[in-house]
Order: sequence, then structure tokens, then C-alpha cells
Amino acid sequence: MTRRPLVAGNWKMNGLRAALAEIGAMGASYDAALEARAELVICPPATLLALAAEIAGPASIGLGGQDCHPASRGAHTGDLSAAMLKDAGASYVIVGHSERRVDHGETDALIQTKARAAIQAGLIPIVCVGETRAERDAGRATEIVGAQIMASLPSDAPQSVVLAYEPVWAIGAGLTPTTADIAQMHAFARETVEARLGGGKSAAVRILYGGSVKPGNAAELLGVANVDGALVGGASLRAADFLAIAEAYR
Ligand code: PGA
Repeated sequence: MTRRPLVAGNWKMNGLRAALAEIGAMGASYDAALEARAELVICPPATLLALAAEIAGPASIGLGGQDCHPASRGAHTGDLSAAMLKDAGASYVIVGHSERRVDHGETDALIQTKARAAIQAGLIPIVCVGETRAERDAGRATEIVGAQIMASLPSDAPQSVVLAYEPVWAIGAGLTPTTADIAQMHAFARETVEARLGGGKSAAVRILYGGSVKPGNAAELLGVANVDGALVGGASLRAADFLAIAEAYR
């Protein structure tokens, strides 16, 4: 089973229209040779999605949303449906990022309904899981991540679904787990995805690592067994950094 690596950038609440030039620069350097080895996606703020789609073009950098509402439409002021993101040019959507779990009190159950809505709208959800520092220190990292996977991933999700393991303590911190810890967690995550989806589907599911992925550590982190790409925050804001990470696959 070969899984096409995915390098996804999460711009979070960063980026005015001037930042679209970075997406243009990414597209300009994303040549056929790199495209054959890795898929590149940027998840800009929703305000930039439609504009980014015009710049990125159909065969270049893919686009994703950062969150969606579980409902397809209706009276939900300030929210966005998966169908709206798709209409604006997205093919992916991040759900369950730890910042949404904390800032908006999102639960595994809610995240599962969002992932389900994304799939129904024709988007690929990138479902995020990860333990806190306290949970890791207490020796509970696999227990926490396992429970999040079982409760956040729809049991009938297609094998195109993407899982992102992002230890909360590594995000934006300049810290990463050891490669041994990442290998152990990703192997466990794949077993858990299999327990959840069944039918051998987990062999095709891409499991991304996220948390302080930078040009300087990308080759090491992306070379770990069962790491099928990265979810990149800060280092995805500048084309040069994001491309330098993706270059690990060339
Ligand atoms: P970071 O963020 O790369 O800035 O650590 C990763 C993420 O939150 O997805």
C-alpha cells in the first residue's frame, strides 16, 4: 500500500490578502516532480479561500478550510458549512484542531459530526488528535490519543480520511517528540484507525505529524515509519519555509 504523502499548511488566524502572494509563490515552485511525490495543501482563513483558489489553479496547491459546522446550512450565525468551503475552492477541511478543542470547547462527538458533514459535502476531513503535556507526563498519551481517534473518526469514513497526530505541547512551541515516540504513536494510531474503520482501510489512511515541523527537522520527522506527511502551522505562512519542508519528499 503506497500512501501519497500530504503536506498541509494551517494558516490559523493569519493572512490578509497580501499573503496570497505566498500561495502564488508556492504554486510557482510546485513542479511536476515534487507533485509526483507529495500533495501540498494550504488551509488559509476562510476569507481568503475563494481568492486563493483563483491563484492556486486547479492542478497546483490544494486548499482546505480550518473548521466546518456539522449542519449543511441554516441559522448558525458566523459559521461555515462544508459545502460553502467546497464551493469556495476547498477540497480538505481540518476538524478538531486542539485550538478549537480548547477555544471553542469542541468535543470528540462534535468533531465526529463535523468530519461526517465534510465527507457528505465531498471534502476530505483532516481529523486532529493529540495529548497535552500533562497527559504525556502522566503516561497517558496513547490512552488519550486512542480515545480521541475512536470518538472523533466516523466509523464509516472512507480511506481518504486523514488523521493528524499533533501533540498539543509541541504546537507552536519549537518542541517535538523524539522520532522513537512519533514512530510508536503513529503505529498505535494506525492500529486504532483499523480498529475504528476495519476492513484493512487503515493501510490507506494518511497519518500526518504536526507540531513545530520546520525546514530543519522535516526530513527527520517525515522519514519516521507511518508518518505520511505533516500538518504545518507557523512554517506554512512563508512559501520558502513550506516548500523547504515539502522538499523532504523530493
Ligand atoms: P506549528 O502548528 O507548526 O506552528 O507548531 C501546527 C498546527 O497547529 O497544526
